[in-house]
Amino acid sequence: MIGKKHKNYLFPSLQDARKRLKKETEQIRYTLPVHLVGIGNNKKYLIKTYGCQGNLADSEKMAGLLETLGYRGVIDEKEADIIILNTCAIRENAENRIFGELGRIKTLKKYNPNLLIALCGCMPQEENVVFKVLEKYPQVDIVFGTHNLYLLGEYIYEAYLSKEKVVQVYSKEGDIVEGVPMKRAFSQKAWVNIMYGCNEFCSYCIVPYTRGKERSRNYHDIIQEVLDLTRSGYKEVTLLGQNVNAYGKDFIDINYTFADLLFDLNKTEIPRIRFTTSHPRDLDNRTIEVMALQGNIMPHLHLPVQSGSNNILKKMNRKYTREKYLELINKLRHYIPDISITTDIIVGFPGESDEDFTATLDLVDQVDFEGAYTFIFSPRSGTPASKYEDNIDYTTKKQRLYALNKLVNEGYLNGNKRFEGKTVKVLVDGFSNKNNNMLSGYTEHNKLVNFAGNETIIGQIIDVKIEKAYTWHLRGIIE
Ligand code: SAH
Ligand code: SF4
Ligand code: F3S
Repeated sequence: MIGKKHKNYLFPSLQDARKRLKKETEQIRYTLPVHLVGIGNNKKYLIKTYGCQGNLADSEKMAGLLETLGYRGVIDEKEADIIILNTCAIRENAENRIFGELGRIKTLKKYNPNLLIALCGCMPQEENVVFKVLEKYPQVDIVFGTHNLYLLGEYIYEAYLSKEKVVQVYSKEGDIVEGVPMKRAFSQKAWVNIMYGCNEFCSYCIVPYTRGKERSRNYHDIIQEVLDLTRSGYKEVTLLGQNVNAYGKDFIDINYTFADLLFDLNKTEIPRIRFTTSHPRDLDNRTIEVMALQGNIMPHLHLPVQSGSNNILKKMNRKYTREKYLELINKLRHYIPDISITTDIIVGFPGESDEDFTATLDLVDQVDFEGAYTFIFSPRSGTPASKYEDNIDYTTKKQRLYALNKLVNEGYLNGNKRFEGKTVKVLVDGFSNKNNNMLSGYTEHNKLVNFAGNETIIGQIIDVKIEKAYTWHLRGIIE
């Protein structure tokens, strides 16, 4: 079953999306269909991306596809012939923002009656979103999900031809599609998908429903992509997966894990390797040992803990304990002494007592995280936790988030302070967002640094002496 049919529409089903029945994953090789050649000639596109790095990488694929059809990118939305919103469903406020944006861009159709508006990514994988769009947002012309973005050209073709709304959302376990052209956003750092989907089913999370089952790309394809990027002058790759530590678990006839992949990439010439996201249950000793080889493997790990209370971790279906998490942190610091560790934390999970929350604060205090993304629990329809009794009032949730953030911000500052007076290596990204006279980039420990410099060094790794640490960034001078 790949979704529900109605008229020409294909609707999603969260219930079908939960299924994990197939062992094998279909491999698809993308080629450009002849009838699509040139359909974007003299036309312009604009993609707005929300959500995680997975979506950023998907948007680069859509940009690549559109360019092969003849489209060119624009920044001014009034000039666009197609606007694509690549959406995120992780929390309700993320969705509300996107609905607001849909309302706003509706008026652009007045300037350009031929403008196509497309909604894709994780939100359309939820049936209630598709129904709401059909009912309340007639300005949307094309709706598709995460499984079929490589068919974008077909949907545009259909939308031009039929003048009818195109709704094509598959709820299925998912394939691996190779050969989709990418137009990368940067020329010095690149996302590299190593796997898709998620099988963890943390009780609060919509991702296993929106992205399908965990499926790993062939490691030859990944290594080749990194080699090609290196040859093109790229300095950094970030390996992407919802749970990179589960890489290879779905291989049927070979035994090749994330640690093997990291080990093989460690031997390549790519100057910097990062990866995200890691899961405490699956981060194994071998991976830590390979990380300890350092070289091009950056000394930073994002390891979401979600809560410091065993009671809550169990209800979240995280499958590790507070003790196991702390043990992992000790091991990481033993093997990679100056590693920077960041995390994700949810407050106000159903049933979270004062003691549970205090346990989270206590864990944050113990671990000395150098950064954390913190969230108030948001019930996602279709997930188990959305049915748990939510017995915490909103004021308490806000107070907990505030108290947690206060502690987390101290961690950010302390993490930055340890580099004051030191010389660090920075990959120069470009001009600083806040100050156009300054350059900015990230250190090996993933710290943002601002410094004065000439644009000719953009894309290079340079030595910067850190003069002062602030909560959110470092200020330095080129050595
Ligand atoms: N696969 C990654 C990222 C998942 S989404 C991981 O496992 O860490 C990023 C973060 O969003 C999660 O780590 C979690 O902290 C948060 N999150 C996910 N679902 C949420 C929900 N329903 N409410 C609030 N925060 C949520
Ligand atoms: Fe969501 Fe958990 Fe999977 Fe992360 S590991 S994407 S939090 S289900
Ligand atoms: Fe959001 Fe989908 Fe990523 S829900 S966080 S865009 S996987």
